[in-house]
Amino acid sequence: MSAVKGINLTKYYKNFKALDAVNFEITEGECFGFLGPNGAGKTTLMGMIYGFIEPSEGELILFNKKVNKTTMAEAKYKIGVIPQDNNLDPDLSVLENLIVYARYFDITGQKARKRVTELLEFVSLNEWLNANVRKLSGGMQRKLIFARGLINNPELIILDEPTTGLDPRSRRQIWDKIEELKHSGKTVILTTHYMEEAEKLCDRIAIMNKGKILVVDTPKNLSLKFGGNLEYVYLNMTEG
Ligand SMILES: Nc1ncnc2c1ncn2[C@@H]1O[C@H](COP(=O)(O)OP(=O)(O)OP(=O)(O)O)[C@@H](O)[C@H]1O
Ligand SMILES: [Mg+2]
Repeated sequence: MSAVKGINLTKYYKNFKALDAVNFEITEGECFGFLGPNGAGKTTLMGMIYGFIEPSEGELILFNKKVNKTTMAEAKYKIGVIPQDNNLDPDLSVLENLIVYARYFDITGQKARKRVTELLEFVSLNEWLNANVRKLSGGMQRKLIFARGLINNPELIILDEPTTGLDPRSRRQIWDKIEELKHSGKTVILTTHYMEEAEKLCDRIAIMNKGKILVVDTPKNLSLKFGGNLEYVYLNMTEG
């Protein structure tokens, strides 16, 4: 079963084409990675998949339904987002940030509180429940955003550079969490600049450059086809 399908997805920012007729299909339960240099269009594409950015051209199909306003509103309940930027509310505590976010998914009261406790344990931040988010280090805030993205127990999780800025141990902890999500049957979409992360987690990888997808394959096949490790393939494909 297909979880996400993009058909000729294109995005113009004024006259600049940030995404150029991108085609791909992500299967349910798969971990699919998008790699590419800064400005390649990854975040633009992630934003389209979670309904934040409207395509200028092309079509998006989520859970086998063509996306329009109604189907996107339904799909949002099944999607978890870990954005690239830190968009926590700096005036609120850890708990409040999660409770407010839960409300967007109609999760309130005891149910919300229970879910928040579970998630903070999941990312080892339970001792920080009542702390203002400003008191958290950058890496801890990243973990909190990760937890927040799981609040609605999503079927599809979009991770835009989930481990950027994390120390090596924290990065491995997040990798373990992503593996857990994969094993529980979730579909995961990931962008990263860490080749090791992509190789370890992704079943298939799309390499992007200048708004286009250049190639899609398993990490192993990419290495075999292009003769070298993933970093070598990436650097060769994206040069110029
Ligand atoms: N809101 C915007 N207005 C104008 N241009 C934009 C906007 N958002 C992105 N762009 C441009 O679109 C291109 C793609 O940006 P995007 O953020 O999707 O890249 P990315 O692959 O996520 O890069 P990075 O690896 O640095 O996160 C860039 O050239 C960027 O300058
Ligand atoms: Mg980005």
